[in-house]
Amino acid sequence: MIRSRFFLMLVVAACSAVGFALLVDSALTQEKAAERKFTSAVESKAEYERTVAPFLKKHCIMCHGPKVAEGELAFHELDIDMKASTSSGRWAMVIEKLATREMPPEGRAKPSDDELKAVTSWIQAEMKRAGKNFSRRHAIANGNKISHDKLFDIKQAAPFDNPIRIRVLSPEIYTGFSTDIAKGLSLGQPFTPEGRTTFKDMGAPKIDEPVAVQLMNNALVIVERQTAHKIEGGKLVALPGAVKDMLSFVDESVPLTPVLMDKAISGQFQKILNRAPTVDEKARFVKLMQKNVKDAGRATGMRYALVAVYLMPEAIFRYEIGAGKGDDRGRIRLAPREIAYALAYALTDKRPDAKLLSDAIEGKLDTKEGVAAAARRLLDEPKLEKPRILRFFREYFGYDKAKEIFQEDKANPEHDPRALVEDTDKLIEYILAQDKNVLYELLSTNKSFVAYKTAADTKKKRAEAIKKFEEQKKKDPAKFANKLPQKIGRSVYTAYNLTDFPDQQPVELPAEERAGILTQPSWLAANAKTDENHAIFRGKWVRERLLGGVVPDVPITVDAQLPNTPDKSLRERMNVTRQEYCWKCHQFMNPVGLPFEIYDHFGRYRDKEPVVDPDATAKKVDKKGKSLGIVLREIPVDSTGGISGTRDPAVDGDVKNAVAMLRKLAKSEHVEQVFIRHAFRYWMGRNENLGDALSLQTAQKAYGESNGSMKALIVSLLSSDSFLYRTPTVENKK
Ligand code: HEC
Ligand code: HEC
Repeated sequence: MIRSRFFLMLVVAACSAVGFALLVDSALTQEKAAERKFTSAVESKAEYERTVAPFLKKHCIMCHGPKVAEGELAFHELDIDMKASTSSGRWAMVIEKLATREMPPEGRAKPSDDELKAVTSWIQAEMKRAGKNFSRRHAIANGNKISHDKLFDIKQAAPFDNPIRIRVLSPEIYTGFSTDIAKGLSLGQPFTPEGRTTFKDMGAPKIDEPVAVQLMNNALVIVERQTAHKIEGGKLVALPGAVKDMLSFVDESVPLTPVLMDKAISGQFQKILNRAPTVDEKARFVKLMQKNVKDAGRATGMRYALVAVYLMPEAIFRYEIGAGKGDDRGRIRLAPREIAYALAYALTDKRPDAKLLSDAIEGKLDTKEGVAAAARRLLDEPKLEKPRILRFFREYFGYDKAKEIFQEDKANPEHDPRALVEDTDKLIEYILAQDKNVLYELLSTNKSFVAYKTAADTKKKRAEAIKKFEEQKKKDPAKFANKLPQKIGRSVYTAYNLTDFPDQQPVELPAEERAGILTQPSWLAANAKTDENHAIFRGKWVRERLLGGVVPDVPITVDAQLPNTPDKSLRERMNVTRQEYCWKCHQFMNPVGLPFEIYDHFGRYRDKEPVVDPDATAKKVDKKGKSLGIVLREIPVDSTGGISGTRDPAVDGDVKNAVAMLRKLAKSEHVEQVFIRHAFRYWMGRNENLGDALSLQTAQKAYGESNGSMKALIVSLLSSDSFLYRTPTVENKK
């Protein structure tokens, strides 16, 4: 990829000029540590003795040892050879308790990050050696674990705790940024979303070698295009795509004067970083240019120097280090420029616009009110695309996963997940455009779009096909007697139990059949298996994202499969989870998942469920007694369930189906608070903690006082202390 060793040297020079190598290095060593390998039990044991045993002795043994074994966990009895034992499940639990900082419990000395990292990486490496499937989810803190009551307790006075941080750009921001700079160039995507967190944009910074190489190559492609030229008769001739202003940088006939270098450096800084270089940066880049040009010639040397600006940490990372003023409570405010970037990235995939940057310079972002006004302006600006808002709902509800589940075409040829997802996108946009009682509408509306992008067109083409068919039939009745008109498009309306595409969109579906996003075919299909419903997943979703509950992960020792008894209903097959041991978890999922049995896995409303009829199937044989396939019969759907955990007697209790359940949940204040917690996570890019209580409560108030305006909620979050302030770490407090 990097074109030769010689060029590699130039890149290294460029990187060191901007301090990039250091970043790559430290990110690399961190990754390597996480990926350590043990080749033998002996090697693993040695590392255990070296790092883990002393850690446990210092922090855990007093409660999990020979004298006391809290939670029935005693480390001296827990096997450290995970290959020769079944201890890995317990060790996975240790990772989780450490990652969520639940252990050691409050009031005990907190282990340092390095200690935690060492212990976690030993457990992971030993699991890998033992071939145990370690789900990385274990290591991710679950935001719901923070007590809901404490968060919404108006007397909550926990100290503010929001460490400074540096995040890598999201893939979307990177694309937004590079398409602005390099129109028409197709660049490889260096970044991948984390994929382990509730929301994609919550991940930790991660720059490894492939990412770094991709970033450099992209930068090179951009700069080479901008300075594209050939030499004809000793003269430089511009090639298509070249930026006229930049050609003088690579033109050997133009002397490389300090003024020219200054222009090159300043222009590049302005374009990529939205600011002028500092005196020190300018000096470093001048040196880099001179050296490069000497080593590699004018064009190549200059190009590699220009590339270096793209590799500056500032161009790759989102800085929220609190470069602003401190306050009397020991917090530091983000600098105005950091706020401008944070606001832009909260709503758009682009860097801040000129107005935001000038707001920052003019001091308009120095007050909470000023930041709120800036956020409001961005939200109200019709021309500004704000893809991050719809993305929140996509990631929160997760309905777009319908496209990843490959439902069998044979069972339902009309299934069109792409269209279903577009319909739900559109419904959300419709509700957001009204901006009134947004959550309530999302959970209860019986309005829907139905293949809204293609419905009119399909309908027209179908009418034409029928007309043509009728004409042909009239001409040649014999030939067309047993034929049907040509089939055009999919009858997506069947997913909504309609008999045709509606003329008006959105259409009102029967109120007893549909209530909001969770009854949209997209969501139902996304939370289904390829050939049947998945009441457990659906229930888990409701428990976590509407009720704010925590369901522990399936224990590694459980063979999580339903009995293969196709003559029984899904509900009956799920009876295996009623055993006491299973029920302590499944009680939180099944009762809020089974109400969705009024739909099938394509999202079609139903009151009957097909199951195999064993008797009829046994009889359906040919003369030789060979089976001619299964016979189905229909049994009535039982969609009863019950809500628990809202502590609201008007909401908790039995429900007859999903529609009844959602209509109740839509009115629950508890559910509203859980929704606000999720919005908080998305827009802050991290989980909430007790120190965020005021921000959350203020956001809920703003939402309530505005009659459920999503805009008001977002403005409140984006001007909250949690957005604007950071707590310094020990080092930068000094
Ligand atoms: C002050 C006593 C105390 C200390 C110190 C302590 N724990 Fe615990 N731990 C408990 C109690 C009590 C429970 C059971 C209740 C619970 O799960 O919260 C528990 C439960 C656990 C569990 C869950 C056990 C299970 O299978 O349900 C794990 C894992 C755990 N602790 C790990 C640790 C680790 C690792 C440390 C050291 C970093 C540690 N604990 C330090 C008191 C302690
Ligand atoms: C500690 C909590 C817990 C216990 C105990 C538990 N489960 Fe589960 N189970 C879950 C969770 C959480 C899921 C959702 C799976 C996921 O998110 O990947 C699940 C999913 C399942 C599934 C669906 C799996 C799939 O991917 O289709 C089945 C079947 C299941 N459990 C059966 C059982 C049975 C049987 C028992 C008792 C022997 C049991 N579970 C005990 C938490 C638990």
